[in-house]
Amino acid sequence: MITMPLAKPPRVRQLKVKKTHRQNSPAVSRRRLRRIGLIAALATILSACSGAGPQTALNPEGPIGRSIDDLWETVFIMATVVFVIVQAALIYTIVRYRSRKDDDSEPVQVHGNTKLEIAWTILPVLILASIGYPIVSGIFDVRAAAEGDDVLHVQVTGHQWWWEFEYVDIVDEDGRALVTANELYIPEDTEVSLTMTSADVIHSFWVPILAGKRDLVPNRVTNMTLIADDPTPPDEPHPGQCAEYCGLAHADMRLKVHVRTQAGFDTWAQEQLEPAELPTEGPAADGYTAFATCIACHNVLVEGPEGVEEVGPVRRIEVDGVSFSSALAPNLTHFGGRDTFGGASFDNNAEHLAQWLANPADLKPNLSDLNDVANGRILGMPNFNLSDQDIDNLIALLEGWD
Ligand code: CUA
Repeated sequence: MITMPLAKPPRVRQLKVKKTHRQNSPAVSRRRLRRIGLIAALATILSACSGAGPQTALNPEGPIGRSIDDLWETVFIMATVVFVIVQAALIYTIVRYRSRKDDDSEPVQVHGNTKLEIAWTILPVLILASIGYPIVSGIFDVRAAAEGDDVLHVQVTGHQWWWEFEYVDIVDEDGRALVTANELYIPEDTEVSLTMTSADVIHSFWVPILAGKRDLVPNRVTNMTLIADDPTPPDEPHPGQCAEYCGLAHADMRLKVHVRTQAGFDTWAQEQLEPAELPTEGPAADGYTAFATCIACHNVLVEGPEGVEEVGPVRRIEVDGVSFSSALAPNLTHFGGRDTFGGASFDNNAEHLAQWLANPADLKPNLSDLNDVANGRILGMPNFNLSDQDIDNLIALLEGWD
């Protein structure tokens, strides 16, 4: 006979716990658990009543979004049919063959059924194949780079924590391409080919109403295509956001897609190519003096007495033979014309700007202590301890650049 040595009882550190009636009573904790469960369930159900949920893949506004939505619907219907059949068979079996008081005879014992086993192997294979084929071909369609004369090409560079858009087909007289940040403008009913990379870590471009997600990977080029059916109302662009956790301010790495008629888009693009005007008097002119701090990272195309010049560092990165604009911070040439700023997370108004300029990290978390301008690593705008006067002047300057 083998005897197990008795383990020495572990020394238990005595914790002084104040015992209360609540902690002791299982009925109370069960009641509390039930209450928490009820609140959680109610919150989940009531969230469906929210009318404003535009960041959804379920009301697509373009053919690519629709193809994804169609797939989801097909799979949902098939899954529902399978679920109902399996549950019905299960419930029928449980009820029909339950043990009865007046019958304690042993049920018929069976072992295996070749025909049935072949059937329940083949059937799921067929079901999965019929789901898998359209999904895989859909994935390839979504990832394909659009080609053709009518395609609008936009290069996207992901940054911690904002988006840079360069319209490589749209250039000014000097060959400078249109560059903007966080708010993408596209013409309706047009294939927009996004060629994407990242300046730092992996991000993911996601505008659910138009298309699926695609990662932006450092040192790699990825593609995706956007097509939007109709123009968006002026103050209701399609919302999107970074869908890959990319650090502290990932949640504030949002974006907007404004869809315009072709004519509306052309007008917007022409205006964007225009330089910002150099103010000569008033608070905006004083703001331009304070702006000297900003151009360590930000770019702006200004028209001054000596003509048009690009102010601020120009930075590009070469990835797989593609040259991407990779600025240290958003281009501010038409800042005043943007609805939002700070990774499309804050309405662009004087109040938010004043808060931002007083201390950016108060509005949006950042790691500006780790900035290294020389090596191109910017993790947020630092607090420059600007005076109230400078802040007012800078707001006058920036809001004037629309
Ligand atoms: Cu970029 Cu998350």
